[in-house]
Amino acid sequence: MKVAVIGAGLMGSGIAQTFAQAGYEVKNIDTFKDALAKADENVKKLFEKKVAKGKLTEAQKDEILGRLTYSPRMEDIKGAAVIIEAVPEKIELKKSVFAEIDKLADPEAVIVSNTSGLSISEIAAATNRPNKVMGAHFFYPAPVMKLLELIRGIATDDETYNTMKKMAQKIGKTTVDAPEFPGFIVNRILVPMQNEAAFMVMEGCEPKDVDNAMKLGCNFPMGPLELTDFVGVDIMLGTMKGLYKGFSDSKYRPCPLLENMVKAGYLGKKAGQGFYRYDKDGSIIG
Ligand code: CAA
Repeated sequence: MKVAVIGAGLMGSGIAQTFAQAGYEVKNIDTFKDALAKADENVKKLFEKKVAKGKLTEAQKDEILGRLTYSPRMEDIKGAAVIIEAVPEKIELKKSVFAEIDKLADPEAVIVSNTSGLSISEIAAATNRPNKVMGAHFFYPAPVMKLLELIRGIATDDETYNTMKKMAQKIGKTTVDAPEFPGFIVNRILVPMQNEAAFMVMEGCEPKDVDNAMKLGCNFPMGPLELTDFVGVDIMLGTMKGLYKGFSDSKYRPCPLLENMVKAGYLGKKAGQGFYRYDKDGSIIG
């Protein structure tokens, strides 16, 4: 079965890798050729590390990488049974991508958005087949995180939902049904906590103190600020803004420090600077 993943950023490339590891033929599509080259390089590096650690043989690595190909052409979604969109969280962009998918995808294809909180019904309405559209929210890093939130739009039919649910099991994910409201389940709880941690830094706390408190006091694998850097300060702020706008509720007010950081280009680990500074290998240096 062929799977197409649209978007080769951190999420899209990780989702493509996840399906390739599970045995699917995957086409990762992005109109930005630089993004494709970077995704290819990152995935290869990751697999080389796994071979070096003895977690994968050279032959297994080559087999998985052989199933994962890249393309800058949207036409390459043709023949895909499942199409997963993972482009940036901008509703107009997602709608235009879905309108294009609608023109090119096979009639029976299941079309999935990896949105972290936008309306599936609104995205689906950009197509002439809203019954074939649903949400499946992966977590970063997609190949590692076990959860997949499944979200039905108003028109999503049972066949579409069941196909995605079965596929989720095949790629080793545990699913939960999430309501079609901003943030679904995880981000509605997690992102306000990250936002609150940013407020504490704005009030003068050291990021290390906030993170150590949550790691040692709650057994979190990463502190909320380290996690914000890991996922991307811009991504986290975008999600917080989605909650604020979507619920029209001041309790989701984004922390102004996050706005300043994004304006300054302090986007987290990927930029070498966020709440912490990083070396070129991604280790914290200050
Ligand atoms: N991409 C792919 N795989 C990665 C990865 C990445 N960016 N980072 C780590 N991994 C893999 C490694 O290859 C390794 O795999 P193997 O065991 O097969 O070698 C495995 O993860 C463990 O990595 P490490 O040993 O290097 O590091 P670790 O044990 O400290 O774990 C972690 C790293 C899994 C990221 C862990 O710190 C963790 O679980 N952090 C919390 C992550 C989290 O909360 N994610 C949710 C973010 S919110 C979100 O995603 C919502 C949204 O809408 C953006």
